[in-house]
Amino acid sequence: MTTLTVLGIETSCDETAASVVRRYDDGRVEVLSSVINSQIAEHAPYGGVVPEIAARAHVESIDGIVARALSDAGVTWDDITGVGATAGPGLVGGVMVGLSFGKAVALARDLPLVAVNHLEGHAVSARLGADIPYPFLLLLVSGGHCQLLEVAGIGACKRLGSTIDDAAGEAFDKIAKSLGLPYPGGPELEKLAVGGEVERFPLPRALLGRKDYDFSFSGLKTAAARAAVGLTSDIDRRDLAASVQFAIARQLAERTDMAMADYRMRHEGRDLRFVVAGGVAANGAVRDRLETLCGKHGFSFHAPPLKYCTDNAAMIALAAAERLALGLSDPLDAPARPRWPLDQAAASANPTHVPGRKGAKA
Ligand code: KG4
Ligand code: ZN
Repeated sequence: MTTLTVLGIETSCDETAASVVRRYDDGRVEVLSSVINSQIAEHAPYGGVVPEIAARAHVESIDGIVARALSDAGVTWDDITGVGATAGPGLVGGVMVGLSFGKAVALARDLPLVAVNHLEGHAVSARLGADIPYPFLLLLVSGGHCQLLEVAGIGACKRLGSTIDDAAGEAFDKIAKSLGLPYPGGPELEKLAVGGEVERFPLPRALLGRKDYDFSFSGLKTAAARAAVGLTSDIDRRDLAASVQFAIARQLAERTDMAMADYRMRHEGRDLRFVVAGGVAANGAVRDRLETLCGKHGFSFHAPPLKYCTDNAAMIALAAAERLALGLSDPLDAPARPRWPLDQAAASANPTHVPGRKGAKA
């Protein structure tokens, strides 16, 4: 095996991102550059991501972003030994832009290509900051996904549970919108919630008493939207934001609590590791609650550095590097996939898990 220097490309939603990651023989990882061009300003007037605008913006900026990733890393094309591009799940117009770019680079430079599953990127993202060995229990919580997975290694994920409607980040965003906060609402809602009374507004506890590890946020979203109507005082809005954040963190913790108890039984005598990843992993209240849970069950707690919680290309480059190190790569006709579950078997067995209007991205 040799040292790998991989270019990663991410265009599955509203961030055009490129990164160069080096993976050494012994598994050590170094992020040489991570460039992210957010399209937030372009989508802001519409209160959410507009797929056509996103795809066009990716086309306009991708070559400049990749060039900057190389120059920030202090490398040239001659130093790159592989390319990884997100091939799904996500908004397919954007995915096609990044994947086509990656294919063109692979063809022109005669490099191996990895068509990366965006969720696998999130799954390895904590490994960008620390050496976290497999296996681990993973809570993947972002704008499009909310699931508990057992990660035994690259390409070996077992889904334990998933949202039956909205993702947690989607709930944060929609409730934030009801409170008049700009998109993306998660971080704005977290700011508004500071110092608020977390149990002032009683919000529903979904799926309580169920023995599986699924999530549901649509009831909470509706209740919060109703409570937001007519709230004008800063204190009321702050308390509602705090109550919402508390209720979302509580549900994430309640389901993870049960999954940890089960995982612990099945991994007796082994080191227990828990990873939370995805945009919502940036939320302090969510992290605190999950960290406490880890203490209760004897798990070590891991989360990516904040800059690698939300979408980035370093996690895509690392997922590609880990695949290349195992001798895995993809052909140049690898398709762009709007839907692409990490655990295909679980998704096929449970097709009712179709979250939100965005469809079954996960
Ligand atoms: O992982 P990500 O960048 O994109 C997807 O793959 O979906 O996650 C974005 C989501 C958005 O819903 C955003 O509101 C949420 O993560 N998010 C947060 C925070 N930072 C980002 N939610 C709550 N608190 C935060 N601090
Ligand atoms: Zn993501």
